[in-house]
Amino acid sequence: MRLGVLISGRGSNLQALIDARADPVYPAEIAIVVSNRADAAGLARAAAAGIPTAVVPERDRVGFAAEADAQLREREVELVCLAGFMRILDTGFVEAWRDRMVNIHPSLLPAFPGLHPQRQALAAGVRFTGCTVHFVRPEIDTGPIIAQAVVPVHPDDDEGSLAARILAAEHRLYPFAVRLIAEGRTRIVAGKVEIDRWQVEGWRR
Ligand code: GRF
Repeated sequence: MRLGVLISGRGSNLQALIDARADPVYPAEIAIVVSNRADAAGLARAAAAGIPTAVVPERDRVGFAAEADAQLREREVELVCLAGFMRILDTGFVEAWRDRMVNIHPSLLPAFPGLHPQRQALAAGVRFTGCTVHFVRPEIDTGPIIAQAVVPVHPDDDEGSLAARILAAEHRLYPFAVRLIAEGRTRIVAGKVEIDRWQVEGWRR
């Protein structure tokens, strides 16, 4: 399956998807990385891996969506992966890629959507939080959930230490969730994701 990855910054989740190639039977490859920022560190990660990149600069939401869409289609992308993409997408773009676009968010959705989910988790006093990969719908951080990973909150955590622990889980979860989709094992039924042969291979594999 051909992936298009949208980034805005560091790109550590992009790196996790790049590193998934180490498994010769991994069923997805990154066809293009699109960034809305020319200074995104993730662009260098893509270039180092020999993956084509495109910078689609900040402008109005519809103009960005049109050019990003053209880049993705030109590379025959089948699944769009948002990986630290920090811009709200045009609704038309979201609908055009409906059920073919996924996002990773550092909380157990539907808890703590939006900005600073780690700070929200600490403020709420939860003992566990984590990360979620979900299909994208127009309302921010909503959509059918594909996979989640649980991370403990330690009593002495601050936002940075908690974010780092969640990020380590993200780097395992995102390639796993993309693999489920690329293997054709996910389908959306009544707004929820069903996974074929879930019992055969849990996410620890
Ligand atoms: C991650 O925590 C991701 O869940 C959130 O933004 C962060 C991006 O980090 N959406 P990176 O750019 O992948 O390193």
